[in-house]
Amino acid sequence: MAAVRLVTFLVMGFLGLLPSQLISNALVYGSPGEPQGQGRRPKKAAKPAAQKKPRVDYSKFSHNTHVTQEKLSCDSCHKFPTKNWKEVRTGDAAFPDVAEFPEHSSCLNCHRQQFFARQRPAPAICSNCHVKATPRDTTRFVFPSLGDVSGMNLKTRESISEFGIGFPHDKHLDVVGLTRPEFRQDVAAGFITVAWGRPWMVGQKSSEQPKSCPVCHQTYQPQGTSSEEYVTTPPKSLGDNFWLKKGTFQTVPNSHAVCFTCHSADSGIAPEPKDCNVCHKLLQADQKSTVDFDPKVATEMGITDRTILRGWSRRVSAGAFRHEGGQHPDLSCTGCHNVTVMNTLEPKTQKVPVLSCGGAEGCHITATTDDGGALNFEIDQKKANPGFVCAKCHISFGKEPVPANHLVVIPSAPQK
Ligand code: HEC
Ligand code: HEC
Ligand code: HEC
Ligand code: HEC
Ligand code: HEC
Ligand code: HEC
Ligand code: HEC
Ligand code: HEC
Repeated sequence: MAAVRLVTFLVMGFLGLLPSQLISNALVYGSPGEPQGQGRRPKKAAKPAAQKKPRVDYSKFSHNTHVTQEKLSCDSCHKFPTKNWKEVRTGDAAFPDVAEFPEHSSCLNCHRQQFFARQRPAPAICSNCHVKATPRDTTRFVFPSLGDVSGMNLKTRESISEFGIGFPHDKHLDVVGLTRPEFRQDVAAGFITVAWGRPWMVGQKSSEQPKSCPVCHQTYQPQGTSSEEYVTTPPKSLGDNFWLKKGTFQTVPNSHAVCFTCHSADSGIAPEPKDCNVCHKLLQADQKSTVDFDPKVATEMGITDRTILRGWSRRVSAGAFRHEGGQHPDLSCTGCHNVTVMNTLEPKTQKVPVLSCGGAEGCHITATTDDGGALNFEIDQKKANPGFVCAKCHISFGKEPVPANHLVVIPSAPQK
């Protein structure tokens, strides 16, 4: 990271001498009154060379610079609660939250120069928080913690978070377990304890379903009783080929709404809301993992939904798996997800074991191909033709050789 930064710095130093830079500056900042860069910036993605500013790019705030390098604490910038918390959510839905960007005062000591830079229509640094920052329009983007708040014509910035969420599922085993609507009041009245069912086991039926999972995870865009099976319209010639269906993904929390019912300043349950860094962990570059996803496939299908793209691009086991499909909803979540060993910051620990696709229950893994197992069938095909692509469960992994763990789960295989 540091090395990359340094190189960029040097290259951009040279670019700064070229006349093209002057032209591009004019393009970026436009003439007075023009919306600056449309107010949207794909954060962390490399900007096209023509838009690069010499030296530091003050339109791209980085926590690495401020938290790791400058050793600033979260609360030196983020105040809790922010004074707008009663406005962003109203009535029963309102709770003390960090719902606004840091104030100018948290930057000015170090960035007076950037705040008063002569750039039109506004200094670059303003665009980290403001849509425009012209004297007439001081609107800010929606602070991203308001993932559950919609409408109100709010402007969202497309950005990739620098943080991951450290949520210890095991520590919540016995404390979360309420159905959604009653949730907030009941918690206020004191804890209701519902156990998560028996320990993790393959083939668990949904009668042993932990009651807690749906508090934070729900099937996203379920097909339900609708006849519309696919997320987008497939070509007529689709046949048996894969096309993304509704109800494939489970949601993950997109705000503080659930967490702060228990983790509040009053409850005394650590972490308190102001302890941002206990839940939010800066990700290191090497925390990326091989995913079973291909952005080209998503583009071909015309998928633009952010929740879907986020979920799909994080799949490390089986990109084609659909939660709503077949008998999947009849199975217990914990039969496939071993939440007691899962670390939400380490994708590797989130892998769903191949065995949970069948095993003793049959389903996709059977003694022989004739018994109907999809895994058996695909392994046979791959043996006969190494160019065969396994597409039943996978988006991109299916091109690779068969992993050893796929062979050992077949009941009749010699390894077993
Ligand atoms: C120097 C001031 C400063 C400090 C210190 C700081 N932040 Fe931020 N933070 C900001 C600003 C400005 C934004 C909005 C710009 C952006 O999204 O990058 C932001 C945005 C965020 C976001 C949303 C964007 C993202 O990358 O996910 C999270 C989460 C966040 N901060 C958490 C933290 C945590 C946790 C800490 C402490 C470890 C922290 N911040 C420390 C200034 C700061
Ligand atoms: C303790 C001093 C300090 C404070 C407070 C501070 N910064 Fe910085 N910031 C730095 C330093 C040092 C750099 C490295 C580049 C430089 O020297 O300007 C930097 C760089 C930046 C950059 C360039 C990209 C990056 O992050 O590396 C942006 C944008 C930025 N700061 C915005 C802010 C904003 C917005 C605030 C207030 C919410 C803030 N800073 C508060 C010291 C500070
Ligand atoms: C770190 C985020 C951040 C940055 C960077 C930032 N602002 Fe703001 N700005 C805010 C917030 C938050 C408020 C609302 C403050 C309040 O309501 O007390 C605000 C309010 C304002 C206001 C309304 C007047 C006021 O004080 O309520 C103006 C004008 C403004 N900003 C201009 C700018 C300009 C110009 C820049 C760049 C030089 C800039 N801001 C950079 C966060 C930011
Ligand atoms: C109190 C809320 C909460 C409860 C209850 C909860 N989870 Fe989670 N879960 C989370 C959070 C937060 C994450 C991390 C999301 C992220 O990384 O952004 C997560 C992540 C996951 C992931 C990995 C998601 C990914 O991005 O790949 C799985 C799988 C999962 N949970 C399954 C379960 C199961 C099964 C249960 C029930 C036994 C459960 N969770 C109960 C909050 C919860
Ligand atoms: C038959 C096995 C199975 C069952 C039952 C199951 N899941 Fe999953 N789940 C998976 C697979 C496979 C993935 C994709 C994991 C990957 O590739 O990273 C997944 C992914 C997830 C994710 C990450 C978001 C996504 O959809 O990619 C969450 C959260 C999750 N499951 C929660 C649950 C919850 C809650 C339940 C119970 C209501 C449940 N799962 C039931 C197999 C299952
Ligand atoms: C029903 C109440 C409840 C909800 C909802 C809840 N928690 Fe917790 N959380 C607890 C309790 C109780 C503990 C302490 C458990 C222990 O120490 O064994 C805890 C512990 C934690 C810890 C560990 C702190 C440490 O010191 O190791 C983290 C991190 C955490 N919760 C994050 C979250 C996040 C993130 C959410 C929302 C997705 C959330 N919690 C939702 C009750 C809750
Ligand atoms: C108890 C755990 C917990 C604490 C404490 C906490 N958060 Fe969060 N935060 C979460 C969870 C869970 C989410 C939803 C997951 C997500 O959006 O990635 C979230 C989401 C966010 C988001 C939107 C994330 C994004 O990148 O779009 C921002 C911004 C944020 N929190 C800022 C803060 C700040 C600032 C603090 C400290 C004042 C804080 N949080 C304290 C758990 C916590
Ligand atoms: C019934 C569903 C299913 C079928 C069919 C299937 N897989 Fe998998 N595959 C999984 C699951 C679940 C995982 C995640 C578990 C793991 O990585 O250990 C996985 C993981 C993988 C991985 C990643 C392994 C790693 O170490 O990262 C590769 C590569 C792979 N499969 C290739 C194939 C090939 C090639 C075929 C066809 C012969 C195939 N799979 C058929 C379910 C399936």
